[in-house]
Amino acid sequence: MLVREVKASDAKSLLKHANQVATETIFLGREVGELDVSIEEEEKLITRWNESRLTNFIVCIVDGNVVASCIVSGREGRKRFSHIVTLGISVNKDFWGKGIGSKMMEEQIKYCQANAISKINLEVMTNNTSAIKLYQKYGFEIEGTNINAIRIDNKFYDNYYMGLILWIKKTLVFSDGGVCERVSWKKLFRRHRANNRRYYPINFFTGGIYKLLMYTI
Ligand SMILES: CC(C)(COP(=O)(O)OP(=O)(O)OC[C@H]1O[C@@H](n2cnc3c(N)ncnc32)[C@H](O)[C@@H]1OP(=O)(O)O)[C@@H](O)C(=O)NCCC(=O)NCCS
Repeated sequence: MLVREVKASDAKSLLKHANQVATETIFLGREVGELDVSIEEEEKLITRWNESRLTNFIVCIVDGNVVASCIVSGREGRKRFSHIVTLGISVNKDFWGKGIGSKMMEEQIKYCQANAISKINLEVMTNNTSAIKLYQKYGFEIEGTNINAIRIDNKFYDNYYMGLILWIKKTLVFSDGGVCERVSWKKLFRRHRANNRRYYPINFFTGGIYKLLMYTI
């Protein structure tokens, strides 16, 4: 079992996983057959996700196949929301209860702390006991209720709004307003190459290394 960032080459397996979980649970937002994305489109999406500080898509691989996925994703180009992401998670039914969900939650929390994200939001159906327990295990709290958020076969279901506040030390300020304690250099390089944008260090030491690296790539 390997949990890692998704790669473009996972596109086919990721789509298979997404289509499979849609048949295995009512707790996700998509019905069977609603995922109308080609492998090529999915590859492009993955490349775009991997370049964004506000998106981190991770997968769990078993025997070369994607069996679980977890995304945190925020609103690009909106400074006032540049500290927030929304989380979504799914595990193939055969692998429930084996610790994969927990491992992915830990990875996402680490990612957010390292990338200036100080709040994770999510919505979960109020009858999804396993998921609510998983989120509470990592400190998420129920913040409110979204009444009649979901309709399945003409029956309405409510969602809880849940959120986790993270503590971030200020050492580096991104051009999009994010403030960062530790930097994901891999993403910085990718994003720099993709957008040719600059980030503004406020810590002299970090800034020195940063400038040195920026001028060498
Ligand atoms: C919810 C889900 C992501 C959990 O993933 P998982 O890999 O089974 O989770 P884990 O094995 O790491 O268990 C994590 C915690 O979830 C809770 N949990 C898991 N299965 C449970 C069950 N059957 N009953 C009660 N709590 C359960 C427990 O708190 C558990 O922690 P613990 O083992 O330390 O007690 C998975 O069941 C899933 O994909 N469900 C369908 C899709 C879904 O509901 N997604 C969330 C939409 S908001």
